[in-house]
Amino acid sequence: MTEFSRIKNAMGKSTSSNNPVHRQGLFALELCDREFGFFREVIYRECGIKLTEMKKALMQARLMKRLRELNMKDYSEYRDYVIENYSSEIVNLINCITTNKTDFFRESNHFDFMHSVVLPEFEKLGKKSLRIWSAGCSTGEEPYTIAITLFEYFRDRRMPDIKILATDIDTQVIEKGRHGVYKADIIDVIEPEVAKRYFLKGKDDNEGFFRIKEFVRDIVYFRRLNLLDETFPMKRMFDIILCRNVIIYFDRESQKKLFANFYRYLHDDGYLFVGHSETLTGITDKFNFVKNTIYKKAL
Ligand SMILES: C[S@@+](CC[C@H](N)C(=O)[O-])C[C@H]1O[C@@H](n2cnc3c(N)ncnc32)[C@H](O)[C@@H]1O
Repeated sequence: MTEFSRIKNAMGKSTSSNNPVHRQGLFALELCDREFGFFREVIYRECGIKLTEMKKALMQARLMKRLRELNMKDYSEYRDYVIENYSSEIVNLINCITTNKTDFFRESNHFDFMHSVVLPEFEKLGKKSLRIWSAGCSTGEEPYTIAITLFEYFRDRRMPDIKILATDIDTQVIEKGRHGVYKADIIDVIEPEVAKRYFLKGKDDNEGFFRIKEFVRDIVYFRRLNLLDETFPMKRMFDIILCRNVIIYFDRESQKKLFANFYRYLHDDGYLFVGHSETLTGITDKFNFVKNTIYKKAL
């Protein structure tokens, strides 16, 4: 089996099984307030995600998958398991809870702006290298969209040295991003001519899937990173930081801490992009508003 088919099989993994716990009616199990309170507190402490009462049903559904994998009878057994195996299980608990919705060219005005304003500006400044950070990158569509935007811009120009750092707290999405295999309909938003330059079309067993070409994968570096950590391990600063559709889940304090860190990591002439429903108003005055959801460092 090729690596491409293994990835594809894993993506299409069925959730049904012969696990006896399923047949005994695990689906009827309810997450009681005590357990909900516990998991909610752990998730908030570890990744800053605030889960309101309204999210109880969502958490119940998401954790059920993990209960099945561990063959557990109820949520209190899983709670005890988390307490006893905290350092190894916390990653799996977080993976269950994160919301990873993303798309290629999501909020496409950002990539148009990069192409028409940011990259010409950087070119004029004579930048020899570009460092870009997709913070909260989910399954990789965002960092690969950045890569495609850059490759397209520099097609007939001198290409600087480009590195894109793609980070997320969820280890499963990072793994998927690293492999760079996507269902064909997901790349429908990309013009066929452009897609041909950056994707390999799956054949036979891989029909219906596309894989990002190696030269594109080579400039994108996926790493697990919790944006709520006090300090980050990166040594270099960035020309562009994208943190889109991530801070909506954070409380004000966590947002303030994060943007103070972004300020430290952004070059003076760098750009910061946030999600369509996010704003820095009331969080920080260290960035100047350029255009809706696009900011530059205030000097
Ligand atoms: C809704 S997705 C957004 C993906 C992409 N930025 C986009 O806009 O299409 C939010 C991502 O943020 C990640 N995330 C949530 N809390 C995080 C944290 N504390 N540190 C790092 N990543 C986090 C989630 O795992 C998820 O993949």
